[in-house]
Amino acid sequence: MKYSDKVVVITGASSGIGEDSAVEFAKRKSKVVLVSRTRQNLETVAKKITKYNSEILVYPCDVSQKNQVEQMSRTVLDKFGRADILVNNAGFGIYGPVHESKTEEIESQMATNYFGMVYCTKAFLPKMLEQKSGHIVNVASVAASFGIPGIAPYCASKFAMLGFSESLYHELKGTGVGVTVVSPIMVRTNFLKHQSFKSFPKYSSMSLSSSIVAKAVVKASYSPRLEIIVPSFVRGAVWLKQTFPYLINPILGAAFRKAMKTRKMD
Ligand SMILES: NC(=O)c1ccc[n+]([C@@H]2O[C@H](COP(=O)([O-])OP(=O)(O)OC[C@H]3O[C@@H](n4cnc5c(N)ncnc54)[C@H](OP(=O)(O)O)[C@@H]3O)[C@@H](O)[C@H]2O)c1
Repeated sequence: MKYSDKVVVITGASSGIGEDSAVEFAKRKSKVVLVSRTRQNLETVAKKITKYNSEILVYPCDVSQKNQVEQMSRTVLDKFGRADILVNNAGFGIYGPVHESKTEEIESQMATNYFGMVYCTKAFLPKMLEQKSGHIVNVASVAASFGIPGIAPYCASKFAMLGFSESLYHELKGTGVGVTVVSPIMVRTNFLKHQSFKSFPKYSSMSLSSSIVAKAVVKASYSPRLEIIVPSFVRGAVWLKQTFPYLINPILGAAFRKAMKTRKMD
């Protein structure tokens, strides 16, 4: 795949998976649009990747705000005249049982993780269809396949992202435009620094670096597949859960319920 003439829009580019994805595309000399809410953090990422001599546009934008996304896409399309790869990566989670969660917290996870992806897709897809080329990469999670106690709103937003992507995947067949979901297990980023995750079982030996996931994002940007699970052997766990839910769900439920009880003792 030749990336040097590609315009790549990355949401949530100011840290973690988005930041490392920006590095990967900049190394390949793509034109990279860095999107998140915090200009200062985006400028820091832009500075870090200037050494690769790729063209960078920093664009502060809250993806949960439809008007801001529409304005952002107009600016990108006016400047570059095209959009080749859209990485819908902005997202966050809050840990806590549903009965203790504020309704606003539940709404805000859906607004960013799901509707942010919808707004960006709606903003760039028409241009991609006109070009007859392009790829949308949606960063979901294995939480798109497992309902994990303590992160119900987050799981709901990622299940929604996967369902939306699967339908879109079928719709786009034969158009030259593709969509691929990247679903990692736990990743060592700022995501888990939200104070609600204080007692969430993290940084286990299974967790990934964000640079590994960023490489999967690049792979996804030319993949014909609907979903890439990182690491790939976890696909086996998803298959097991879908095939034998009555065996897997009780084990998963018990493990994470125990973690939630520990949290209560904090
Ligand atoms: N870390 C994990 O264990 C893990 C596992 C599976 C999937 N994921 C998914 O990976 C994606 C990236 O997360 P990460 O782990 O790299 O976390 P991170 O380091 O906290 O990065 C999240 C990014 O999203 C941006 N963001 C948050 N809300 C936004 C909004 N409303 N509008 C625009 N940008 C927004 C943040 O920047 P600003 O604060 O500057 O806006 C930041 O750049 C998320 O979708 C997450 O669900 C993470």
